[in-house]
Amino acid sequence: MENRPQWGTRSGFILAAIGSAVGLGNIWRFPAVAYENGGGAFFIPYLFALLTAGIPLLILEFTIGHKYRGSSPLSFARMNKKWEWLGWWQVAVSFVISTYYAAIIAWSGSYAFFSFGEKWGKDSEGFLFGSYLKLADKAGDVGGIVPGVFWPMVLVWGITFFVLLKGIKKGIEVANKIMIPTLVVLFMVIVVRALTLDGAAQGLDAFFKPNWDTIADPKVWVAAYGQIFFSLSIGFAIMITYSSYLPKKTDLTNSAFITGFANSGFELLAGIGVFAALGFMAQQAGVPVSEVVAGGVGLAFVVFPQIISEFPAFNGLFGFLFFTCLVLAGLTSLISIVETFVAGVQEKFKVSRTKAVLVGGGLSSLFSILIATKGGLYFLDSADYFINQFGVALAGLVEVVAVAWVMKELKNLQKHTNEISDVMVGTWWRICLGVITPIVLGYMMVQNIITNIKENYGGYPTGFLLYTGWGVAIGAIVLGFVFAAIKWDKDISVSSKGVSQ
Ligand code: PFF
Repeated sequence: MENRPQWGTRSGFILAAIGSAVGLGNIWRFPAVAYENGGGAFFIPYLFALLTAGIPLLILEFTIGHKYRGSSPLSFARMNKKWEWLGWWQVAVSFVISTYYAAIIAWSGSYAFFSFGEKWGKDSEGFLFGSYLKLADKAGDVGGIVPGVFWPMVLVWGITFFVLLKGIKKGIEVANKIMIPTLVVLFMVIVVRALTLDGAAQGLDAFFKPNWDTIADPKVWVAAYGQIFFSLSIGFAIMITYSSYLPKKTDLTNSAFITGFANSGFELLAGIGVFAALGFMAQQAGVPVSEVVAGGVGLAFVVFPQIISEFPAFNGLFGFLFFTCLVLAGLTSLISIVETFVAGVQEKFKVSRTKAVLVGGGLSSLFSILIATKGGLYFLDSADYFINQFGVALAGLVEVVAVAWVMKELKNLQKHTNEISDVMVGTWWRICLGVITPIVLGYMMVQNIITNIKENYGGYPTGFLLYTGWGVAIGAIVLGFVFAAIKWDKDISVSSKGVSQ
């Protein structure tokens, strides 16, 4: 039996899982998704999705990693050799995401410093796309490296390498034990400040006001499942990898509940903070809140700088705190996603951890230079959209169908987790995974395919989408099969019998 590294404490593991789950998705995606899909009424499909898909899938992934004690590819190979490719597919998807996630963290780091003196001036949009990103005119142009993005990105990779080279317990666990509590404290300071701004109440009204008509709309349910999926880092190979470092006796079910609720709690907190701040901005401008709502890059780097400039006092400090929160939330997620391919490479080729970090992380950091060019934002936008729709969500769908219906492993996994967990999972768990999740995700996938065939995402030219979007998403599947075809080092036991349980 190989000597697998382990987390020092269960709380260390849970913090790392929360660190992965709490990312940019919680801060800039959730508030806008909730608002656009019914405000207060969205909480019903959201809670339903959390309980029927989010937590059951987390329990599933924790159990797979714990039972088979391997990276995602090794765990699937041990479950059934035919399915190793699924693990590599997830790893390839994670690889793509890591390349642009590093860039976004780098922007956030730059903006933390731009906050002092409000470098964006009166025109935050012009500043972002013009002065800072130096955005190329056309999608597909590369146009040279932008030093203002490149150098902070070098730093982001430096920190990530440092943490990963130190290993699981001394690296990832310690980093999360420092970064997650810091993130929570800083974020609370911002939320409390936002709640005491003029106009905050209007923002919260807009956020929580339920629009019950939306409940009957399937789109809203799909949005809820999509958010839960992305937000909990399921289908990324991350949670399988992290749980493979758990000691034998660990309560898996309980850990999944804690991770799921902590992530949603943070998400709710972000919604409150963001909308309180948007309410303040709307009041300053004398417009309704609906006119200032934004999500994603626009919210963080265009709208938030404006809000910060309007703060009554300590503008620079609050800007710094906000962008530092993005950096912390992002770094802990980036570390988790890079670990998926570090673990995969290390096991498949039986190389040292150091080598795996240098090769895996090295390759990803090289690719990320493309995102630090003048055309970077276009590549990021297209790859992000396609890899989430046809990478994460699709791999998640294939995962549940394969485990539940093809390999028929749910009962075995149920037995495994029940033997070591306080909270037992029962038939409802198998129904959620085997029936509800595949139906919702399957429906979502069909809709997605139809929409994307009918119209070009973001209005980009077809040629560009073919290689930056479709090509990347399909390439990840192909890579899955290629890596699965490579032989394991003879010292690695791929048979499930080789796993001590
Ligand atoms: N759960 C993360 C989020 O909400 O942002 C999703 C994620 C993205 C995890 C990118 C890891 C990652 F590198």
